[in-house]
Amino acid sequence: MAWRNAPPVLTFLESYDLSRKKLVSFNTHEGSGQSETVSEIAASAPNAEMLKDIAIQGKVVQEDVKRTGELLADWLCETGLN
Ligand SMILES: Cc1cc2nc3c(=O)[nH]c(=O)nc-3n(C[C@H](O)[C@H](O)[C@H](O)COP(=O)(O)O)c2cc1C
Repeated sequence: MAWRNAPPVLTFLESYDLSRKKLVSFNTHEGSGQSETVSEIAASAPNAEMLKDIAIQGKVVQEDVKRTGELLADWLCETGLN
């Protein structure tokens, strides 16, 4: 997904009926967090269920694998996907 927006992904989402589908946005960033990504995805897939998203700073991923694992584990619990 491109930084801050995702036209190809949004076109994909708008092309299919995503009723009963679960969507989750996860990304790395260096300050922008999810930006408008989550609201854009939700608007492009109004019938889908949006699960809890996660945005982890890329610096953390690169420098602290243990912390990254903890963040991902907590996030998976929150989504119910674990
Ligand atoms: C919502 C969103 C916000 C992002 N914010 C930043 C940012 O603040 N700074 C940055 O350097 N990259 C940012 N990125 C880029 C990602 O860190 C990453 O490099 C990019 O999504 C490509 O990852 P991939 O090769 O795994 O697809 C952002 C990406 C997304 C989707």
